[in-house]
Amino acid sequence: MQERLLYEGKAKRVYATSDPQQVVVEFKDDATAFNGMKRGQIAGKGEVNAAMSVRLFRLLADHGMATHFRQQLDARRLLTDYLRMVPLEVVVRNRVAGSLQKRTGLPEGTELAEPVVEFYYKNDALGDPLLNGDHIRILQLASPDRVARLRADALGINHVLTGFLADRKLLLVDFKLEFGMVDDVLKLGDEISPDTCRLWDRDSLTKLDKDRFRQDLGDVEGAYQEVLRRVLS
Ligand code: TMP
Ligand code: ASP
Repeated sequence: MQERLLYEGKAKRVYATSDPQQVVVEFKDDATAFNGMKRGQIAGKGEVNAAMSVRLFRLLADHGMATHFRQQLDARRLLTDYLRMVPLEVVVRNRVAGSLQKRTGLPEGTELAEPVVEFYYKNDALGDPLLNGDHIRILQLASPDRVARLRADALGINHVLTGFLADRKLLLVDFKLEFGMVDDVLKLGDEISPDTCRLWDRDSLTKLDKDRFRQDLGDVEGAYQEVLRRVLS
């Protein structure tokens, strides 16, 4: 089923299949941070991120949300729709952390009265900069209607994920989504994993995500396994 390598990213490989409408996504253990400046491996990460993404894509599908997921092929590989990607990363934040903390000076962990949605330009050479609506318009990355739709979909996904994870004693601090098109239909693509979400233990506020790698907090593998255990529970 898996054929030619179409694309290799920092954490995934994408292969063509005999059907141009479908691709195989393979999750790697490779980890990078700070636009590829920091590099490493997180043992078992590919399997955790594949399994967690599958569980959460199924959850979203149960709530009527379109995703690229079709089938899990093995521990690291998913069969998905081929999407024409929107060149934006959509970030949703429920609490202050990471670049929002840097940008605003608000203390890490501050609860936000309303979720914050941000758009970043998917452009490695520029370091994925934050864009406002006017920037998206002049770059013609998405129409105003599509931007509004991305925002609404991201907030809907936040609502579903926040509740599901809270039931498993996980606080969804923030996360990043990527969307793409199949014909005229917008679908969620990429992954939903501890690489792309900040997840804290609800009671101790212990970080259980890629920040353990970014900030050299130790036991990265243990945190990923613990998140998967809870997500599958
Ligand atoms: P940030 O605080 O660094 O802007 O990150 C916000 C969220 O987006 C966080 O959950 C991590 C995720 N993220 C990615 O998935 N990929 C990236 O390249 C970056 C910078 C953040
Ligand atoms: N994955 C991104 C990179 O290497 C950034 C991150 O997740 O922190 O650049």
